[in-house]
Amino acid sequence: MSTNQVDPLKALIDIITAQTTVLQSAYSNNNLQVPSIDVPFQSTPLEFNPVVTASRHLIVAAALQLIATVQSPIEFIQGRLGGIYDTATLGLLVDINVPEILKEAGPQGLHVNKLSSATNVDSSYLARVLRYLATRHIFKEVSPDVFAHNRLSSLLNKAKSMEEIEENPIGRFDNAPLAAFIRIASDELLNASTAFTSFIKNPQQASAPFNIAYNTPKKMWEWTEEPGREVVSRRFTSAIKDTARAMYPPEIFTSGLDGNILQPNDVIVDVGGGVGSVTLTLQKAYPDLRYVVQDLEQQIVAARKFWDENNLRAITTGQVQLQAHDFFKPQPVKDAAVYFLRQIIHDWPDEEYRKILTNLRSAAGAHSKLVLFEMLAKHVTEDLDSGPSAPYPLLPNPGVGQDPPQPLICRCLLTMYNGKERTYEEYTQLGKESGWKLEEVRPGKLSAFIFIPI
Ligand SMILES: C[S@@+](CC[C@H](N)C(=O)[O-])C[C@H]1O[C@@H](n2cnc3c(N)ncnc32)[C@H](O)[C@@H]1O
Repeated sequence: MSTNQVDPLKALIDIITAQTTVLQSAYSNNNLQVPSIDVPFQSTPLEFNPVVTASRHLIVAAALQLIATVQSPIEFIQGRLGGIYDTATLGLLVDINVPEILKEAGPQGLHVNKLSSATNVDSSYLARVLRYLATRHIFKEVSPDVFAHNRLSSLLNKAKSMEEIEENPIGRFDNAPLAAFIRIASDELLNASTAFTSFIKNPQQASAPFNIAYNTPKKMWEWTEEPGREVVSRRFTSAIKDTARAMYPPEIFTSGLDGNILQPNDVIVDVGGGVGSVTLTLQKAYPDLRYVVQDLEQQIVAARKFWDENNLRAITTGQVQLQAHDFFKPQPVKDAAVYFLRQIIHDWPDEEYRKILTNLRSAAGAHSKLVLFEMLAKHVTEDLDSGPSAPYPLLPNPGVGQDPPQPLICRCLLTMYNGKERTYEEYTQLGKESGWKLEEVRPGKLSAFIFIPI
């Protein structure tokens, strides 16, 4: 029987069955069980394991394709439209600290009446919002109107007790990047999305949908620095700052830089480095190198605090330097061994992308390298990973089995900054136009794009 004669439904179920076995074996080989959805999240050594990750993605891709195939098309489309309520309900619960209150209540959960007194929100709204999410496997309703955490909802916690949150409400998103991102998604991103259609139909009118919705010419991160936006600014910093540690295995950065073949005292520049969380990872792995973390002045202020808390010695010895620098101006560090940018250029349209890379090319020496840590956008018909192709009948790229799922990220970049994830051809072409030759791509959760000067 040729491939296209295989019943696609059966093929999808076969993928799920086979990959479930792979997943279970990976856990049992480590004396663990596949985590139950009913129990709050606990990290295991398998979180970033490549076999587990690949198998999870195939199961997810096959399961959604199975649903898309068998569900009534109207119901499927209506389900997509409901996505805004996922964002709005998650945002509400994070805002009124329900995850922390439920954490303190423990596995038996809390009745909505008690939640209502703790949050000052009407219990009937709370019941409906929590039930909406519990029906989608986030939180569980343990008995009528009594809700508790499950594996997914437990991740909404802000890493602080209610007492700490009440003492320091402005800092409640510190070290809680997922909760911070949920608030951004349900606030600035959702608001900015209302201008999406208008912007796409007439992109000359503003820099991005965000600028139309908020009636500002500023980029989002400049806008958050305006007086009165301290809470927004602080949660934005938190959403970015800890993402490197929380979402990406450190090997992406350590292997992307090839620090072991560099010479002691070679200089690494983290361009637009935020507080320097990737540099912290690198500095632990390659303590003989020197580092410069560059960002705008406000971020460098936050960076000082970050390094005070995480490795003050690296600053006092001068091994790590924090430098206010605008990457649209000439690069002050000449002839560095490596200039790297993590998730910077995806925030910018092509014209600005070229300006940033051209400034780095002017400062680079003959042996300097440029490394971009970004996602690789794939055509649906395209399979560019080094691993095996997605099995029939999955989409080749492979749909929602991509890691991380690109549609949300891409929509967010377009809405907030008119930025984008780029394809292999775009990286090659824009590199060439800025004086850099794309020499190698190391695929991963974030890919490392390694360039040499032309
Ligand atoms: C998405 S964050 C990435 C931060 C960091 N690379 C990381 O991965 O944690 C984008 C960063 O670009 C910085 N940025 C924006 N415009 C800049 C400019 N003109 N010059 C330098 N940094 C800038 C922002 O302040 C922010 O820290």
